[in-house]
Amino acid sequence: MLDGFLAELEVDSDLFGRDGLRKRIDALDRLDFFLGSAGPRSSLGVQRAVTMRSRLDAANAAVYDAIREEIRQGSVADVWQWLRGQRETELPRHGLSYDSLDEIVSGLLQLHVPEMELPELAEEMVFYQPTPARHILDLIERFDLRETDRLVDFGAGMGHVSLLASMFSGCQSVGIEVQAAYVAAARQCAADLGLEQARFLEQDVREADLGWGTVFYLYTPFRGSMLAEVLQRLEEESRKRPIRIASLGPCTAEIAAQSWVKAVSAVDEGRLCLFEGR
Ligand SMILES: C[S@@+](CC[C@H](N)C(=O)[O-])C[C@H]1O[C@@H](n2cnc3c(N)ncnc32)[C@H](O)[C@@H]1O
Repeated sequence: MLDGFLAELEVDSDLFGRDGLRKRIDALDRLDFFLGSAGPRSSLGVQRAVTMRSRLDAANAAVYDAIREEIRQGSVADVWQWLRGQRETELPRHGLSYDSLDEIVSGLLQLHVPEMELPELAEEMVFYQPTPARHILDLIERFDLRETDRLVDFGAGMGHVSLLASMFSGCQSVGIEVQAAYVAAARQCAADLGLEQARFLEQDVREADLGWGTVFYLYTPFRGSMLAEVLQRLEEESRKRPIRIASLGPCTAEIAAQSWVKAVSAVDEGRLCLFEGR
């Protein structure tokens, strides 16, 4: 089975160009599966598979390097169209699982967490999991983010949301995150890609100044009384100026239950939900 699969890959003339990225990601998954499983195979077959894996990895790295250079040169409109074309489905699939778009975004951002201690989070703080990339693209499109928007990501992790939103919409963004190592990774990525509009603060959201933002994003960064406290602070902001809120995951129900917000999309924790202050 492995030999047949390798033979198919070896004669596939579309496999090694930029457009073959998704195909290569699938092929790498299958090769990893074959190489990791205990089935019968020859040492020659294993060697061929390892060689093919290196060629596929090298082709992917070349695509990511070229795209990162395009971003640095400011050709983000082309990169945006390209990235949209890499989505597995046109409408973002429901749920919080990851897909090949996340792998592509990871190649594009090349985030590296420095070797630092990751202190244990306080109760009610939710551990790090990035927003699946298809929902970030949806945020940029459905919220029609623009240069005039100021996006705040509560509990930004390594900054995927701020980085991609600023890169493709030109909005100013601030990612607020308690874990210093994640903040360092996000800042390094912004610096490497020349994204001056994306900034990252190492801070507890409860202590942050919320007066700057116009759009607030929450992928369930915290729960319980911590979420209630931050929502109360957002309510105070909404009395001063129009604000918009986007959410994903279980915190959506909590936000939808606030009397001072109006849902402007269906309320569903498996999709990006949009709210406005009343
Ligand atoms: C579910 S992850 C979301 C990551 C990011 N917003 C994204 O969507 O890709 C939650 C993040 O919030 C951070 N966090 C939790 N409580 C926080 C708080 N009070 N202030 C700042 N960051 C917090 C966690 O360290 C974690 O990185």
